[in-house]
Amino acid sequence: MLLFCVHAAPSIPRPRVNARHNRIGPLYHKGWYHLFYQWNPDSAVWGNITWGHAVSRDLLHWLHLPLAMVPDHPYDANGVWSGSATRLPDGRIVMLYTGSTAESSAQVQNLAEPADASDPLLREWVKSDANPVLVPPPGIGPTDFRDPTTAWRTPGNDTPAWRVAIGSKDRDHAGLALVYRTEDFVRYDPAPALMHAVPGTGMWECVDFYPVAAGSGAAADSGDGLETSAAPGPGVKHVLKASLDDDKHDYYAIGTYDPATDTWTPDSAEDDVGIGLRYDYGKYYASKTFYDPVLRRRVLWGWVGETDSERADILKGWASVQSIPRTVLLDTKTGSNLLQWPVVEVENLRMSGKSFDGVALDRGSVVPLDVGKATQLDIEAVFEVDASDAAAVTEADVTFNCSTSAGAAGRGLLGPFGLLVLADDDLSEQTAVYFYLLKGTDGSLQTFFCQDELRASKANDLVKRVYGSLVPVLDGENLSVRILVDHSIVESFAQGGRTCITSRVYPTRAIYDSARVFLFNNATHAHVKAKSVKIWQLNSAYIRPYPATTTSL
Ligand SMILES: *[C@@H]1O[C@H](CO)[C@@H](O)[C@H](O)[C@H]1NC(C)=O
Ligand SMILES: *[C@@H]1O[C@H](CO)[C@@H](O)[C@H](O)[C@H]1NC(C)=O
Ligand SMILES: *[C@@H]1O[C@H](CO)[C@@H](O)[C@H](O)[C@H]1NC(C)=O
Ligand SMILES: *[C@@H]1O[C@H](CO)[C@@H](O)[C@H](O)[C@H]1NC(C)=O
Repeated sequence: MLLFCVHAAPSIPRPRVNARHNRIGPLYHKGWYHLFYQWNPDSAVWGNITWGHAVSRDLLHWLHLPLAMVPDHPYDANGVWSGSATRLPDGRIVMLYTGSTAESSAQVQNLAEPADASDPLLREWVKSDANPVLVPPPGIGPTDFRDPTTAWRTPGNDTPAWRVAIGSKDRDHAGLALVYRTEDFVRYDPAPALMHAVPGTGMWECVDFYPVAAGSGAAADSGDGLETSAAPGPGVKHVLKASLDDDKHDYYAIGTYDPATDTWTPDSAEDDVGIGLRYDYGKYYASKTFYDPVLRRRVLWGWVGETDSERADILKGWASVQSIPRTVLLDTKTGSNLLQWPVVEVENLRMSGKSFDGVALDRGSVVPLDVGKATQLDIEAVFEVDASDAAAVTEADVTFNCSTSAGAAGRGLLGPFGLLVLADDDLSEQTAVYFYLLKGTDGSLQTFFCQDELRASKANDLVKRVYGSLVPVLDGENLSVRILVDHSIVESFAQGGRTCITSRVYPTRAIYDSARVFLFNNATHAHVKAKSVKIWQLNSAYIRPYPATTTSL
């Protein structure tokens, strides 16, 4: 199950997923974080989907357990697909998941529970005799009904008390979320209205729905996440997220949930689900959050798929990894976006660190940062554009867009500048992580945050792109970025996690002892200063079969 790729194996631990799709049912139970993932035991391509299962004490070191569920009933013979766990107040754990049926490959929802909830490892799962508990309703295609959410409890004394959302689409290609009401997780009533629908967005996979603390409430001030059933009201917003089957991106929107009707309304119609903000502008899909009661945070996990060919995946024997888990909060400064940040446990992997302060970056410059081998790094960098340079420009690159640009080689007046990671000494390979400023004739500045993979690898069987989007920068704020580098994966977070980008690159030269990191400024007009750069080497962590052979757990 754990195979090593020759030079690109990420060694910051992520359960490696041998499947083309990965939707997960995360859960915290009796001291362990559980990850259930979509897994094909037979091949590194999609098919024969079962539930793999791994556990961790810290979200970083992982132990693989036996498969949690396999396709063995008519209601899931074609695949045990994605699902979600819900913990009930009495300690019971219910797992709802989509099965693809033997007969017609219809998508139905099934119920499973741990055979023994007192087992911290939840090794055995029992499928309900009542399965399937939900089948596609009238008007919904039989293969357009999947991925039940974690259930939430209504704030009042309603019966039934629980709600579950399921993703779908209608005949006119609107993506939508259906809500069901249940008391016992066996019988369900459809809510009278759709929870939400957005025309033109197609099938919604892996819908996620959760509250975030808004304004200056106690939870927002403490940086706490909210439990899934936290009551709506002043100081609470609800996030609706969908993974768009059409373009394989994860979109979210912030809005208001009405528990009386089980409908949700976005704060901004222009930034609705599927047409507005994304969790990540790179390779990142089928994500899901869960509430961690220990550190009282909401944790997000995404699937980082492959950029190499299916043939290469079969040769290396595995495909895809999970991203580093991220905490998710509402950005109370802007009120209009989330903040995603690597879970605090990542900082426990930091080893020796180096600081570089006040590095001047002249126009067209590239400055090496001597940190030794640069394959596993945690980087925090703060940049400043010379204010008089920016002021002297009347208009700059107003039509710029990361994905249609030439990447770091496309020079503008006020950008690009940032870092080159997974680079070799002569820059024959480099992944650029950078800012790019635009200026309107009215004096307004806009900031793009981009990641350029075009020169990331000499290998020619990879998909290489320039990714990115706008990032809000408020008055008086520095430009800041955090970058996690791990052999073949670069995960970047701009402005405290307002805009994030994940790249899967497979360098062929910038590997092991030859991997370097540089600062660069390719703007034609702006002088830039790297006010502070901190770079830590990151330790490896393990992923191995259970049982643990050390006592460190
Ligand atoms: C599914 O499993 C069967 C039996 O193990 C195997 O023959 C087949 O190749 C598998 N299909 C895929 C796509 O892995
Ligand atoms: C950038 O261009 C792409 C492709 O044309 C488009 O889909 C996207 O909306 C643009 N992004 C911005 C921020 O304008
Ligand atoms: C800066 O732009 C020039 C001209 O396009 C290009 O040759 C060079 O590689 C760029 N620098 C970086 C660091 O990408
Ligand atoms: C900007 O960055 C500098 C250097 O890291 C730091 O001292 C300062 O506090 C930052 N300012 C803001 C507003 O975050």
